Amino acid sequence: MVARSGVFEVIVDASTLEERVRRLASSIEAGRSGAETPLVAVGILKGSTLFLADLLRRMHGDVRVDFMSISPYASAPDHPGKVRILKDLDTDVAGKDLLIVEDIVDTGLTLSYLRKTLGSRGPRSVSTVALLDKRVRRIVPVPVEYVGFEIADVFVVGYGLDFQGRYRNLRQLLEVRDVARLAADPLLPAGSFLDDNLRRGVSFGP
Ligand code: IMP
Ligand code: MG
Repeated sequence: MVARSGVFEVIVDASTLEERVRRLASSIEAGRSGAETPLVAVGILKGSTLFLADLLRRMHGDVRVDFMSISPYASAPDHPGKVRILKDLDTDVAGKDLLIVEDIVDTGLTLSYLRKTLGSRGPRSVSTVALLDKRVRRIVPVPVEYVGFEIADVFVVGYGLDFQGRYRNLRQLLEVRDVARLAADPLLPAGSFLDDNLRRGVSFGP
């Protein structure tokens, strides 16, 4: 199922996402076989929220959830790797198995910071699941144990991922084919894209 509107193209439809998330949950569980330690899924706000929710409902056993929110230091463009914590975990993660849940790993700067910070808090283990991996963009090598889809150097929205705060609620993943047009006229494409999708029968839910 592919919908074209000039600005957007569906690159992963909702049923493919559902199937991939189901398999990721199985792989994560298989990787933990026998572990009695609780698993703490650390959702990185806000992009991971839809992915996290779908992943969680596929997982069994003692799985807990906490959230972190990270922001790049906009004021330090000469230090692109610097990030700051806007919201930290509420829970003590010492002795626990941590699963960082990310929407997308791009340069790897955010994830390498997260792994370092969380790793210093005495967890039993730290691993990462990322829905998307833009491996060609990596600046810092960082392990990503579970990857949903590896994608090219394109900008994507939907299923939690945003452009200026919008499109997170779409059930499929869209490639933004014309970022300049979207940036120049952020109001127009939302409406026309949604209309376009509805006309072409792309499902947004019941
Ligand atoms: P990194 O530190 O460069 O790996 O940044 C990863 C973060 O950049 C993600 O968590 C997203 O918030 C954001 N990001 C990177 N690529 C995209 C994209 O294609 N769409 C939406 N957000 C993106
Ligand atoms: Mg993010």
